[in-house]
Order: sequence, then structure tokens, then C-alpha cells
Amino acid sequence: MNKNLRKAVIAGNWKMNKTPAEAAALISEMKPLVADAGCDVVLCVPFIDIPAAVEAAKGSNIAIGAENIHFKASGAYTGEISADMLTEAGVKYVVVGHSERRQYFGETDQTVNLRTLAAVNAGLTAIVCVGETLEQRELGYTETLLKFQTKMALTNVSADQLKNIIIAYEPVWAIGTGVTATAEQADEGNGYVRAAIAEMYGADVAETVTVQYGGSMNAGNAEELLGKVNVDGGLIGGASLKAQDFSVIVKAAGK
Ligand code: PGA
Repeated sequence: MNKNLRKAVIAGNWKMNKTPAEAAALISEMKPLVADAGCDVVLCVPFIDIPAAVEAAKGSNIAIGAENIHFKASGAYTGEISADMLTEAGVKYVVVGHSERRQYFGETDQTVNLRTLAAVNAGLTAIVCVGETLEQRELGYTETLLKFQTKMALTNVSADQLKNIIIAYEPVWAIGTGVTATAEQADEGNGYVRAAIAEMYGADVAETVTVQYGGSMNAGNAEELLGKVNVDGGLIGGASLKAQDFSVIVKAAGK
């Protein structure tokens, strides 16, 4: 197990927060704070914020991501956004299959797979989210579920395309609740994800894939979580809306 084989990536997930003007202001505040990061820094923002965010991040080490992508190239899909629209706007990353999309917007393992393919085929890096509910954990299905979700998401993704895949293990019970998984639980969950990748692509390839933890990661607990061998970064919700807190997490990832 060699953590040095993988890129540490800290990605903010702003969810449905910040107007374009607020986005520009927050990124201007963050830029100097994360300029010397020892990891990759990404901010995934609402679609409408993307032009302002790309402009504000220009010349910095902050890459801009989206929070969703549609799997068709174009057509009658009211309210959806295609890969081409994102890449032309300067987007480099996209969150796929977040548990809030699975819970509130009918996202399934199959549509997660299609969106993942659309992203990597367009040269975007997909941050694919997997995670168990509290009920599933208590029933003892965490490993089975994480492996299944990971394998479903990666169906038809080639070993070469895997270079553009990040998996984020986000226990649903830890998202936005203030309840963080212990560092051991995070490491174990991320380990299940890596084991699923190893079963599909081989252990050597699995060693190179960035697996993030997400779920109430904050300035206070990031260092311990990121110190675990299987935790290669974080997907940060609430704490990514505060420049100071986010920069502390970025610094912890560079250690
Ligand atoms: P949280 O969200 O950090 O606010 O728990 C994480 C996420 O949903 O990506």
C-alpha cells in the first residue's frame, strides 16, 4: 500500500449555495490561502456559478468542477447540462452520483455509470460518490454495497480512463450531519472501494486511484482522516463554503 502513488485531491462541493457574485468573492478570498497547496484543489460549484468561478480562479491552482452532468450529448432533456457545455465553460471535474442526487433526484447506479462515462469520454475527471446509509451499515452491508456501487459506476470504464476517475466514499449518515466517520471507518470504507477497483482492474492499478473521504470533514478532523493510508483526499461540503476552514483542510492534505 503506497499512498505516494496517488494524487491527493481536496474538492469542495458547494451544493446549492452561492450566487455568481458570491462565488467570485469566495474564490478571490480562497486563492491566496491555498496557493501553496501540496495537493490538487478543486471547487465544484452550481452550474450558474461556473463562468464567474472560472474567471475568478484564473491564474490560480484552483480548478473548477460541476456538480452533475447529463449522459447524452444533446437533445430534449430540459434542465440538463452536457459534457461539451461543461468543457467549453472551462470545467475540469464533475461530481457524479452524489447521495443527494440519488436520494432526491432519482439517480441510480445505472445513471451514475452513464454520467461517469460521459464525463471521462469528454476528458473530464469524474468524482464518483458511493456510500451506505446508516440502515445498510447496521445491517452489515457496507462492504457489499460499496463494492457494488463502485463496480456499477465503473462498468465499461477502461483502465486508461480510470486515470480520470476519483471515487469519493461518503457515508450517507455522515453528510451534512456533523457526524464524521471515525478515521478507521473512513479508511475501511475507502479500502473496500479500492478492493473493488482491484477486483476489476488489478491491484497495481487500484493503488494509483485517488479515493477521497467525504462527510463532515472539517478543519478540526481533516488531518486525522487524511493521515489514513486509504484516504487520498476529501470531498468537502459545508467546510468548503468558508475560505479559512477549506484552506486548513487543503494544508492537511499536503502534509
Ligand atoms: P459535508 O458534505 O462536508 O457538508 O458533510 C460532504 C458532501 O456531501 O460532499
